[in-house]
Amino acid sequence: MQKMLFDIEQKTINDILNPNTYRGIYSFHKYWGKKPPESIIYFIQNYTSESDIILDPFLGSGFISNESLKRNRRFIGIDLNPFSIEHTKFLLDMPSPVEYWQAIKEIKSEIKDLIYSSYRLESGNIGSHYLWNNNTLLQVWVKPENGRTRIEIKPTDFDIQIYNAFDNYKIKYIRKPQFFTNSRINSKSSMSLSDLFTRRALRNIDLLIAKIKQYPESLQRALYLTLTSASGQMSSMVFAITKRGKTKNEISEKIEVGSWVIGFWRPELHFEINVWNCFENKAKKLYNALQNTNKEKYIIYNDLPELFNSNTGGYVTNNNCLITMKNIPNNSIQLICTDPPHSDRIPYLELSEMWNSILNKKASFEEEIVVSNAKERKKEKMNYINDMSKFIRESERILKKEGVFLLYFNARDKESWKFMEIIKTSSDLEFFGAFPVEYSANSVVQDNRKGGMKTDYILIMKHKGSCILNLYDFDRIPGWISVLPKSSENMF
Ligand SMILES: C[S@@+](CC[C@H](N)C(=O)[O-])C[C@H]1O[C@@H](n2cnc3c(N)ncnc32)[C@H](O)[C@@H]1O
Repeated sequence: MQKMLFDIEQKTINDILNPNTYRGIYSFHKYWGKKPPESIIYFIQNYTSESDIILDPFLGSGFISNESLKRNRRFIGIDLNPFSIEHTKFLLDMPSPVEYWQAIKEIKSEIKDLIYSSYRLESGNIGSHYLWNNNTLLQVWVKPENGRTRIEIKPTDFDIQIYNAFDNYKIKYIRKPQFFTNSRINSKSSMSLSDLFTRRALRNIDLLIAKIKQYPESLQRALYLTLTSASGQMSSMVFAITKRGKTKNEISEKIEVGSWVIGFWRPELHFEINVWNCFENKAKKLYNALQNTNKEKYIIYNDLPELFNSNTGGYVTNNNCLITMKNIPNNSIQLICTDPPHSDRIPYLELSEMWNSILNKKASFEEEIVVSNAKERKKEKMNYINDMSKFIRESERILKKEGVFLLYFNARDKESWKFMEIIKTSSDLEFFGAFPVEYSANSVVQDNRKGGMKTDYILIMKHKGSCILNLYDFDRIPGWISVLPKSSENMF
């Protein structure tokens, strides 16, 4: 069916420079290092035509896939993280809001009461939040049916017994996660699920998984992602915000609920939140997003040759991009638009392990292109530079003569940029220029440590001698540079 032009967003250079925050379906699930849809859309719209092939070998949350396919481009997406592929497949085959909400209602009628019974208090109320100081339960909150103010209850022995009843609960469906000792994200190789969740929460998550498994593929994926997106709030990693505020001339200590942040910190003072409530809140968010999103069904092939033999559709694979890219023919890709891991900034697979174990998917840690603080992984800068250089070489081979190669990148140290030196010695690929995009500065999950970077760069490469006329608009962009950013000094 012919796509209506007004259905499809158009973007200008100004939109790239001032991206909106993520909205609707793009804000539903957390992922580290999401790139702004505005720039992706701009490049698809201006540097590709219908049927051209767009490649993202480090797909992440995968928004580029549906933005490409809805504009009738062909698309290849690769990521080593099973979560990324699940999220991308979800974007490409979303359930309708009606069928999704029907499933939520069914699950609710079947297990909400059972989950709630694990939070039933002596008073007969259902606990919504449990405030813990290490292993001591300090307070339980109850949400009144009518009225907004929470009721704070002092827990009784009965309430503690209900909690203790799950002490010996044996996990059924959540795969044992593999953690590494990494001080940057506060993980230890000895860590297990019960260090991150209460046994009561794990039992309730198991109940949800047992129900989710009964649904057909696309609905099941949406329901699983509802669960993974809520899993941080279901964990014991939700910190309590204490602030001394002045109300009506009295000093009061008001405690607010924080949220799960990047890493695996279980703060001393933390919340345990009712698992059903976390799930239902996320389900409402996704339901609203689905109502505001056009449901599209794209052709997705099971192998690459099928995509090359057709004028439409996509191919998405959970693999090491260095392997999959070998199967892409020379001179076949119009736009490579990608955002690889930026050296030591974010260990994607280590951070996604909680989600992957809920999804019961295994990640191949050995093949990740990253620098990790986890010594046992032996992910050092030299390996990173070697793998990134291989990636650049393959990109050079498969990029069409008139194609454009965009790399979202930044790194604190000069050494991590070394792979770009390959461009200088290349007989074929040339660096055209770069400009900063200021999206990561606004996001706490991007890189919030001291010394964290304010911007990422979009680096533009092309084949020598190819003339891509509208590329020349770029030199009007504030911060545009036509030399390769060489050292960290000139990057901040
Ligand atoms: C910066 S993130 C991409 C984020 C993405 N731009 C987004 O908007 O969500 C980098 C991705 O590279 C993936 N990755 C790391 N090593 C890989 C490899 N060898 N092959 C394919 N993907 C890999 C990680 O799993 C991660 O999802």
